[in-house]
Amino acid sequence: MKTLIIYSSKTGTTKKCAALLAANIGADSCDLFEITENIPEISDYECVVVGSYVRMGVIDKKVSAFLEKHKAQLFETKFGLFICSCLSDKVSDAITKNFSEEFMDHAAIIDCFGGELPKDKIKGMDKLIVNSIIKIAKTDPTFTVSEKIVPESITNFATVLKEE
Ligand SMILES: Cc1cc2nc3c(=O)[nH]c(=O)nc-3n(C[C@H](O)[C@H](O)[C@H](O)COP(=O)(O)O)c2cc1C
Repeated sequence: MKTLIIYSSKTGTTKKCAALLAANIGADSCDLFEITENIPEISDYECVVVGSYVRMGVIDKKVSAFLEKHKAQLFETKFGLFICSCLSDKVSDAITKNFSEEFMDHAAIIDCFGGELPKDKIKGMDKLIVNSIIKIAKTDPTFTVSEKIVPESITNFATVLKEE
């Protein structure tokens, strides 16, 4: 199944997940592109996957713009969407906030692959934001910070795409 995987990653986790997904689908049949690259024609592929990190509840606006621009083509193709995020209690909020109902209706699968907070890559203002998120999580039981990729979600995502 010739698959196009497009992703946006700031600190490397979404990129890592995109590569793990490609390995699960069958790396030989997958082309991986960062959202900032020259992305090939969607119509050349049997399946398209788009993934983004979540920050302050939202995905990369370049990814949102790409989805909006290509939605007619995507809706005629088998496609899946994934996010990487660390607030495990807020996954469904993040999905409904970032992907409109028409994407929910047309996507073969939409899921979260977990997230990481690599200390060496998060600096300055971002570090302050992460520290305050971690602080809130310590007192608010509806705020769980989970710093791990969930391999089963990636395996399941690949299985659904291959089955459809
Ligand atoms: C400044 C900042 C804000 C973040 N905001 C959120 C958030 O609102 N919700 C969430 O679930 N995760 C949040 N995260 C966690 C990221 O989604 C997580 O680090 C993810 O793995 C990043 O993917 P990337 O390495 O591909 O950039 C935030 C991380 C940073 C550094």
